[in-house]
Amino acid sequence: MSEASNSSQPLRVVVGVSGGIAAYKACHLVREFKERGDDVRVIPTENALNFVGAATFEALSGNPVDTGVFSRVDEVQHVRLGQEADLVVVAPATADFLARVAAGRADDLLTSTILVATCPVVLAPAMHTEMWRNPATQANVATLRKRGITVLEPAHGRLTGKDTGPGRLPEPQVIAELARTVLRTGAFLPTLAGTRVVISAGGTRESIDPVRFIGNHSSGKQGFALGDVAAQRGASVTIVAGATDELEAPSGAEIVRVRTTRDMQREMMERAPEADVVVMAAAVADFRPAAESDTKLKKGKSDDALATLRLTENPDILKSLVEMREDGASRAVIIGFAAETDHELENGRAKLARKGADMLMLNSVAGGGVFGQARNRGWLLSADGGVEEIPDGTKHEVAVRIWDAVERLLK
Ligand code: CTP
Repeated sequence: MSEASNSSQPLRVVVGVSGGIAAYKACHLVREFKERGDDVRVIPTENALNFVGAATFEALSGNPVDTGVFSRVDEVQHVRLGQEADLVVVAPATADFLARVAAGRADDLLTSTILVATCPVVLAPAMHTEMWRNPATQANVATLRKRGITVLEPAHGRLTGKDTGPGRLPEPQVIAELARTVLRTGAFLPTLAGTRVVISAGGTRESIDPVRFIGNHSSGKQGFALGDVAAQRGASVTIVAGATDELEAPSGAEIVRVRTTRDMQREMMERAPEADVVVMAAAVADFRPAAESDTKLKKGKSDDALATLRLTENPDILKSLVEMREDGASRAVIIGFAAETDHELENGRAKLARKGADMLMLNSVAGGGVFGQARNRGWLLSADGGVEEIPDGTKHEVAVRIWDAVERLLK
């Protein structure tokens, strides 16, 4: 691994842009890298400049922009840019562009840079669904993946016209995070193709009255990161999401929004029979008010309902998923999470045994870490007694480690 892959050092990033309408999103991608201090060199194709002008890319990146192999020949830049890059990301990658890279063409600055590059290369396709599904495109994608190039799964959703389907460019924030994950953990391959995954994420909320609720600090980041990585490994992903920060939903995932613990339980139980893997990454509210008031509760009333809020215990979703499997209604591998402040391993083991899950991702939240943070660390405990330490990393890197372990279990 190169030094760049191990640290949060600034990277030398080539952002390639090919000629599709989503080229405008490349501007935001450039900013995603620039904001963390990376040195960004934008290389558009000639066609990309029909959508966004070179001046925009020069201003955003602070570097010159060329398209052909005959510019700045004295600097041999058609070779140098690829040699020096830590990471090459192309967004959008059109069907034609994928075909040209798969064929090993080097007739413009971007394709020659990719042919030279020995660093990770990540292509983010964007095109109409028919073009994406066309066997010619799929054959090119397979060829590229076989060569170690990461071809991201496109997002589902509204395309340029009125049509919807797979083919959208994932949001720039997601592309940047996935590309950095590839740099640190290796190319994404479709190792979860054909696997159905259901993940709960975020925090549930229980209303006290029309303006107040019981909730928690969960941001949903780890659950969404698990969804991102599973989708990139080819799984079909459903996320049952409670309250989350303003996160970009994993591209390609179905999102079901819920509010309370009982809503989340219903949606998880409904999907568990069809799932191969269920992950309870959500921070579930263990209690709810015994009665929800239709009107705003007032302070200082004789019953003082606010000061002496009565609570009722919520169902344990993880436990009910395990029971469902014991009853034969589901065969899913079941992964739980635990956040502990002290005696982590001891508490984690006891929790895993009590809940009956196959694996538990144990986070240490001593000192308030993890919640809402970009990074995570802890231990992955298995029902057979195994303990794998998960070193400090981004929530996407942690997701990679978790899916590696789940894939071993599925085998
Ligand atoms: N969980 C659940 N339903 C609940 C509470 C928790 O499904 N009512 C799940 C969480 O999503 C997580 C795991 O159980 O995967 C452990 O959650 P945690 O809050 O650590 O455990 P609790 O059972 O609530 O135990 P405690 O709060 O006493 O530590």
